[in-house]
This record gives sequence, C-alpha cells and structure tokens, in this order.
Amino acid sequence: MEGYEAFKERIYELTGIDLSSYKERQMKRRIESLITRNRIDSYEAYIKALQTDKKLMEEFINYLTINVSEFRRNPQQWDVLESEIIPMLMKDSKKIKIWSAACSTGEEPYTLVMMMSHFLPLQEIEIIATDIDQGALEKANIGMYNEKAVKNLDPKDIDRFFAKNGGFYQIKDDVKRRVTFKKHNLLEDDYPSQCDLIICRNVMIYFTEETKSMMYHKFHDALKTKCILFVGSTEQIILPTRYDLAPVKTFFYQRMK
Ligand SMILES: C[S@@+](CC[C@H](N)C(=O)[O-])C[C@H]1O[C@@H](n2cnc3c(N)ncnc32)[C@H](O)[C@@H]1O
Repeated sequence: MEGYEAFKERIYELTGIDLSSYKERQMKRRIESLITRNRIDSYEAYIKALQTDKKLMEEFINYLTINVSEFRRNPQQWDVLESEIIPMLMKDSKKIKIWSAACSTGEEPYTLVMMMSHFLPLQEIEIIATDIDQGALEKANIGMYNEKAVKNLDPKDIDRFFAKNGGFYQIKDDVKRRVTFKKHNLLEDDYPSQCDLIICRNVMIYFTEETKSMMYHKFHDALKTKCILFVGSTEQIILPTRYDLAPVKTFFYQRMK
C-alpha cells in the first residue's frame, strides 16, 4: 500500500505517536491488515476515517499497542527479582521508588505490589505505572482478570489479593490504591527520576535500534546509581556498558555511574 510516510506524519500530528520509532516492516504489516479488515483501501482514506470516527481511532491505538500481559510473566525472572534484587535494593533504605513502564492493563504493577507486600506492609508500597494507551490504563483501573492471567501467581496471593467473581478475578482495592497509573509516552515524555527499580518489559521489541538506544540512555538517567532496570525475556541489551549499565543477572541491569 502506498502512502505510509505521509500516514506516519499525520498519525504523529493526531496522536503524538511517532511510528518511525517502531520497526517498520512489522508495524506496516499490522496496520495494513487492520485497514483491510475495515474494508478501506488506502492510507489516505483510513486517515480521513480516523479523524471523524472516534471508535475507529480507539481501535487503531488499541491494535497498535498490543496489550498482552499476565501476572508474574516469566516467573523465574520474578523469582530472581524477589530473592536477590529487591533485598539488595532495600539494604540501605526500605523506601524504594518503582516504575512499571509500559504497564499495559496492570498485571505487572499489581504483581509488584503483591511481591513487595512480602517485604513491607501494603500501605508503605507505592508503584508508578505508565502506558501510552488510555484504554489499557482504564482496564488496569478496573482490575478484572481471567484465569489465564493469574496462572503464575501463588494461590495464597490469589486468595489474599483478589475477589473471585464468577470466572473472573477482581483485584482488591487495597492493592489498587498502591498503584498510580498515568498516561506516558516513552518516546516523547520526560521520565521519572531517582528510581530504584524500573521495569520495562515486552515493549522494546517493537522499537528500532536507534530508538532503543535513546531509551536506554533515558532509563539510565532515570535510575539512581547502583539501581536496577529489569527488561523482558527477549530484550537483553547489547553492549550495556555503552549506557553505563552493567548486567548483574540475566535481564537485570545496574546503573554504574
Ligand atoms: C505487550 S505490552 C507489555 C505489558 C507488560 N510490560 C508485560 O511485560 O507484560 C506492551 C505495552 O507497551 C505499550 N506501549 C507501546 N508503545 C509505547 C510508548 N511509546 N510509550 C509507552 N507505552 C507504550 C502498549 O500500549 C502496551 O500496553
């Protein structure tokens, strides 16, 4: 399909999402299949439709952002986080600042609350959770999940932190209150500062090498010295020392200076 360059520019003007930062082949294929599914035959016609049809725009953002998540995704890595990384971070101060970046529908930040409750009383836990997709954040605020999403959780934590509602699992309000959800674009917006732990998983895979590099610098700056960036299981950083990040465990990087 012709016209992708102009489409990218218009999308940027309309949404603030810069599609040039995402891997092109994959993104173009996804968008074109969505356009065809809507029985539209050009980028130009699609952009026109997006501007007038709010539902279509929501569908586009939703489709673009791929919100798949689950609680304690890749459990072995959460085990390392819980048994080694968190105790290390809490050695000097019990109060640690945690940011779940690209948190999607909330499974990741809520997992963090549950995990941190093994170290601290609930009311002392604070998690910042951000995503570009308002729709995902709304779902996170509702906090209703299916059986598949909770499959990696300890049954004790399920009993303690969810109310079972038919086939669904409703996260309890005392967990919800520990998380501050905010809309945030990793490509454009300022990052929080002085973080002890940043979790950014399963989103870097969609970005170009150049964009990733820019983001690693920003993650470095967002961390306190000696503090940790936790990445997804296919997202190991190549030559992390370029960003003054040292691998401390697989998928965990420490800010060197
Ligand atoms: C596959 S989900 C990952 C969810 C969770 N981190 C996990 O690992 O299970 C990817 C998320 O990245 C978000 N995302 C995509 N581009 C983004 C951007 N530029 N800024 C912030 N979030 C973005 C999407 O909205 C989506 O919710």
